[in-house]
Amino acid sequence: MQRICDFTVSSNMQIAKRVFQMKLVGDTSAIVNAGEFVNVRIDGLFLRRPISVCDVDGDELTLIYKTVGKGTDAMSELKSGATLNLLTGLGNGYGLSLAGERPLLVGGGVGVPPLYLLAKRLGGKCKVVLGFNSADEVFYEEEFAKLGADVTVVTVDGSYGKKGFVTDAVDGDITHWYACGPYAMLRALAKKLEGVGGSVSIEERMGCGFGACMGCSIITKNGVKRVCKEGPVFDAEEVIWHM
Ligand SMILES: Cc1cc2nc3c(=O)[nH]c(=O)nc-3n(C[C@H](O)[C@H](O)[C@H](O)COP(=O)(O)OP(=O)(O)OC[C@H]3O[C@@H](n4cnc5c(N)ncnc54)[C@H](O)[C@@H]3O)c2cc1C
Ligand code: FES
Repeated sequence: MQRICDFTVSSNMQIAKRVFQMKLVGDTSAIVNAGEFVNVRIDGLFLRRPISVCDVDGDELTLIYKTVGKGTDAMSELKSGATLNLLTGLGNGYGLSLAGERPLLVGGGVGVPPLYLLAKRLGGKCKVVLGFNSADEVFYEEEFAKLGADVTVVTVDGSYGKKGFVTDAVDGDITHWYACGPYAMLRALAKKLEGVGGSVSIEERMGCGFGACMGCSIITKNGVKRVCKEGPVFDAEEVIWHM
């Protein structure tokens, strides 16, 4: 079920380099699963912009976004009290029943946000690996830890946490892995954790965001799939990983 609703911005603050946390209040009733996304209407732009649900608590919705262009720049300018029109209830989300005893959650950069709601839904009983380029990009380590998760932060340049890539911080002693982040990170994880069940959230440029335009289609081992409708979460083994 999808819904189009006006939300009111209650806060919008920078939490890392070019990364903002926006809290909004509105009708969240269409948001069900961790890993879903909302499509944000921005004045003056034809296409809505997809952003993952980071958290939902009653009528409060949290989004975390990086400023990369016109749409996200405009979002960063919004003050508390501003209205934002959202299309909610989009995408399939992560399957909680796959988690098993020792789930692993891996987020890279602004792939981290949807994993927060997932960790919350798992009652904090998970290992979490968060990967960033450098210390100034790190966010949400404490928030995951407060849920009770076992959190490791890695940075490529070693300026915070362990030095290296997320793949350096994961091992196979897990029952299922869930990931969101850059394509190269997802592909490297799928290779390293081959044989262990995994769920990956894939990003594609989107048109409608609700399955009508086919603009976000990808070819998987099981045929053509729309990232906005059959995804954004896919079984890692279903994805055809390109070099
Ligand atoms: C399902 C889904 C969930 C997402 N969740 C988040 C999130 O939680 N936080 C977040 O910061 N970003 C997220 N994104 C990416 C976000 O949608 C884009 O960064 C945003 O649409 C860029 O809009 P813009 O107008 O600022 O930039 P534009 O001016 O449209 O583009 C600027 C740059 O961003 C790239 N870009 C634009 N859209 C996408 C896209 N959909 N995927 C990859 N690259 C893109 C363009 O290639 C270009 O290089 C998500 C994308 C998808 C598909
Ligand atoms: S964006 Fe239109 S079908 Fe996915």
